[in-house]
Amino acid sequence: MLDDMFDYLEHIRERPVWQPMPGDVRAKFRSDLPVAPSELSAVHDEFMRDILPYSNGNVHPGFMGWVHGGGNAAGMLAEMLAAGLNANLGGRDHAPIEVERQIVRWMIELFGFPKTASGLFVTGTSMANLISVLVARDAALGFETRRLGVGGVERRLIAYASTAAHESLRKAVDCCGLGSDALRLVPVNPRHQMNLAALKQMIESDRRAGFTPFLVAGTAGTVDIGAIDDLDGLAVIAHEERLWFHVDGAFGALGILAPEIAPRLAGIEAADSLAFDFHKWGQVPYDAGFVLLRDGELHRKAFASQAAYLERETRGLSGGSPWPCDFGPDLSRGFRALKTWFTLKVYGLHALGGTITQTCELARYLEQRVAASAELELLAPVQLNIVCFRYRCPDADRANARIVAELQESGVAAPSTTRINGQLAIRTAITNHRTSRQDVDALVDAVLALGRLAVPVDAEVEEAVYD
Ligand SMILES: Cc1ncc(COP(=O)(O)O)c(C=O)c1O
Repeated sequence: MLDDMFDYLEHIRERPVWQPMPGDVRAKFRSDLPVAPSELSAVHDEFMRDILPYSNGNVHPGFMGWVHGGGNAAGMLAEMLAAGLNANLGGRDHAPIEVERQIVRWMIELFGFPKTASGLFVTGTSMANLISVLVARDAALGFETRRLGVGGVERRLIAYASTAAHESLRKAVDCCGLGSDALRLVPVNPRHQMNLAALKQMIESDRRAGFTPFLVAGTAGTVDIGAIDDLDGLAVIAHEERLWFHVDGAFGALGILAPEIAPRLAGIEAADSLAFDFHKWGQVPYDAGFVLLRDGELHRKAFASQAAYLERETRGLSGGSPWPCDFGPDLSRGFRALKTWFTLKVYGLHALGGTITQTCELARYLEQRVAASAELELLAPVQLNIVCFRYRCPDADRANARIVAELQESGVAAPSTTRINGQLAIRTAITNHRTSRQDVDALVDAVLALGRLAVPVDAEVEEAVYD
């Protein structure tokens, strides 16, 4: 199995980035409960035949869709070790929790948080955003809200994020019982950064209307185009207005490892909470989300609970309190920290920062290739590793959606789509350390070839291409 996975990584370029799963293969996953045992080798054969070839494709250097990290071999091996130990990191006194605590301390140092801050591995930034909003809610309403719920609360809490913020923030506000309307979307400037004057006006008008503004979320790396909000400016407003300052740094926060990006993140150190993923730009295999809370005590008070069967002791296995389960909703938790620990130690922060720099350079190279072709147009300024562009043609939304689907199905490259000012864009987020200029060239060449095919010269051609 190890050989198979090393071969997979070594020869990844020889595979299609992604390929659709044939119906007969999909049907195999509808088979009955496996009551009788099978040979391990037979199940492994099934994996090689029916699962591996139809995976997501984000290990491939041609994968540029959404914001998917490429993973790494050291992290993969660490996952095997973690599964062998089968440690449960909900609590108790053992070394795996010390690994997680070490990463918490490292992140506190990296992001300039105080030593009293706390942190936790979670599935991803969606969960990290949720935990952050929940702690902020309880800090605003009082911790008795945990017992009484928000039903009887008269003060209607309001949160702010930009129109470019990730949807998971809305989900977080919703899951915290505040109602998704409680998230106000603040307009952005042409570089997709939150308009701070508009934010101030919205806060003022909400206060006048009797609402209680409680949180502002800045984004470090917006999902559509990779914009970084003015975090310093947001920190000042949050301080003046007594708001919780959250930063959604899903992929962009780790830009702090790249010397040319770090200054643009100034203000992140003032956040009350920071959500980010190691599984994106950090190249750690999925999943490895992370949340840092400036005030570790508030964090603990939002989640700690008591149960006789989870009694803490000063000695024995029940020592080592507080436990990770005191800082989040999960009791049973896997050893996500180990693959992250291996990745950070084996490659070092310098190389990980270098990868981030390299993906941004590739984005600028792609930007140049788009600019050099009269058939292509750039739809948004390139600020980090994301390039939004499209093929110029009539009915461009439909044609570019088709180009993306055909690109994905061709196995050559896998960008995704988004809408920029209402226009459908081919969106490429270069996140994988394996991606090179050769992959960017393959993408552009394929877009041009498919674009030329997609331009309906006459109805017959249109029929041939579209049907
Ligand atoms: C800015 C931003 N926030 C939140 C998320 C959600 O992160 P996750 O998919 O790890 O839950 C993403 C995902 O791409 C993102 O780009």
